[in-house]
Amino acid sequence: MQIRQLTPLDRLLASANNALRTVAAPAGRSARPNPAEHIIDAGLDARRRAHAAGLMRVNHAGEVCAQALYQGHAAVARDKTIEAQIQQAADEEFDHLAWCEERIHELGENVSRLSPFWYAGAFAIGAASGMLGDKWSLGFIAETEKQVCAHLDSHLDSLPEEDAKSRAIVEQMRDEEEEHGDNAVAAGAAELPAPVRRLMQMTAKVMTKTAYWV
Ligand SMILES: [Fe+2]
Ligand SMILES: [Fe+2]
Repeated sequence: MQIRQLTPLDRLLASANNALRTVAAPAGRSARPNPAEHIIDAGLDARRRAHAAGLMRVNHAGEVCAQALYQGHAAVARDKTIEAQIQQAADEEFDHLAWCEERIHELGENVSRLSPFWYAGAFAIGAASGMLGDKWSLGFIAETEKQVCAHLDSHLDSLPEEDAKSRAIVEQMRDEEEEHGDNAVAAGAAELPAPVRRLMQMTAKVMTKTAYWV
């Protein structure tokens, strides 16, 4: 089968389509089943329910950023194999996005109102780091996924013990984020300088603190 080469216009339209699909809730169906679909919802009290919804809103905002980052990287990737790898990870991130959105709605709340803002910022960061070349682009992905794993571990500590539905989603996301990071390292990721890693942590902190509430 012949693979059609995408023109710059094709890429632009695909990026615009992805942006709309990501920020315009509902995100639509995930390609894979929701890991929480057969788990019975625990009757959480109002305080725990609100806390779980806040954490899942943060995770959803993180997945909006993941979509944007991966699309930003894919838009400027030079190596076709790396572009395909990035696209596959982006597809899995889209499932994460849809699962988080579904859970937030089950908990009676909404996704972050700032989603378009998170998307635009992360797309610009993704494309900018991608322009430095594939090894730095992969380095950025590897570091992002590492920080996301640490963040998801902290959410597994913080989510109510009885909220098995949210926990099942976060656990599967965590495993897959680790795999995305490992794949980026195996594909030749460079280690980012410490000040860049710290800047990424600070930026993520602003997003996570804000998205918990709005
Ligand atoms: Fe994800
Ligand atoms: Fe990931």
